[in-house]
Amino acid sequence: TTALRVALAGLGTVGGGVIRVLEANRELITRRAGRPIDIVAVSARDRSKDRGVDISGFQWVDDTSALARCDADVVVELVGGADGPALALARATLAAGKGFVTANKAMLAHHGLELAEAAETAKVPLKFEAAVAGGIPVIKGLREGAAANAIGRVYGILNGTCNFILSKMESEGRDFVDVLAEAQALGYAEADPSFDIDGVDAAHKLSILSSVAFGTRPAFGGVAISGIRHVIAADIAEAAALGYRVRLVGVAEAGANGLFQRVHAHLVPADHPLAHVTGSTNAVVAEGNYVGRLLFQGAGAGDGPTASAVVADLIDIARGEYGPAYAMPVAALAEASAAPAGDR
Ligand code: NDP
Ligand code: HSE
Repeated sequence: TTALRVALAGLGTVGGGVIRVLEANRELITRRAGRPIDIVAVSARDRSKDRGVDISGFQWVDDTSALARCDADVVVELVGGADGPALALARATLAAGKGFVTANKAMLAHHGLELAEAAETAKVPLKFEAAVAGGIPVIKGLREGAAANAIGRVYGILNGTCNFILSKMESEGRDFVDVLAEAQALGYAEADPSFDIDGVDAAHKLSILSSVAFGTRPAFGGVAISGIRHVIAADIAEAAALGYRVRLVGVAEAGANGLFQRVHAHLVPADHPLAHVTGSTNAVVAEGNYVGRLLFQGAGAGDGPTASAVVADLIDIARGEYGPAYAMPVAALAEASAAPAGDR
């Protein structure tokens, strides 16, 4: 059997995780995929950096976007950034007729539709399970598992860094800045952590999730966003005294007046499932008209969980099991008109 040949861009938290998962679970992954999944080439900024993983068996490519031209079937992008080298690599890969797997929600929120069209034109897979809620298979869950349903509402905790900060502030009464540094050290935060704490990362993910849930074109521009910068330990203590927890929640609702999408700090009743979600865990609730209420919960950030989702995409591709990037081909996606604020 022919191996699926993979070129890997980005060897940081997630990229290193992908190398480790493919290596450690090689035998079971090969059996499940029906063929081996082999990394053949890699690229990052600094060739000499010690990454704690052995990359000596892979071709090193200096120019990251040149990975699109190497002898691989699929390119995995784990560099990050909405534009720049990630976008150049995505465009070049799809134009070269190769599959593309990414965890880059910022790029998808801004350019996902263009990339999905390019993938359809080239008849190659574009997959992004890791871009939403880290290790939780929520894209698969909605796109495949709940595909028979009209989804009315999808909401949840979509940023591990914020949830880690809020729950540590809650349990240990600690300062915001101090906990943020810990989240960064654990590899949860974005390269620029203001994306996390200002709610932008959760909004990127919400716009991707909405598209998959409702079959609408992704509409990041229509998300109303506020973050957790203004939340202080006293707010959390006061909320607790009243029977609430503070959580950064993204909500999307498909209503008669259009698509309602918001990310902001919510007061969640202490007995609600989202109130029990602590640390870097994420949780997503989706309401389908036949299946009812679905709750997806699991690790929303970190090397192992995120790599788990990336490798699942590679296994799908190795099996030849993939369809359009979103819930349906781009031409069939409905236009997403933003519901007026306060009119949901
Ligand atoms: P890291 O910062 O740990 O790693 C980024 C990697 O990209 C590094 O290897 C770096 O090279 C390389 N890189 C950065 N800039 C360039 C450039 N200009 N040209 C070539 N290579 C470059 O990031 P993460 O692994 O945390 O995140 C990667 C992606 O995954 C992002 O899109 C992020 O949003 C997403 N993601 C991250 C999660 C997490 O928990 N960390 C969870 C879900 C998604 P070098 O090592 O040489 O500096
Ligand atoms: N910075 C992101 C988070 C990584 O904290 O949720 C996972 O997408």
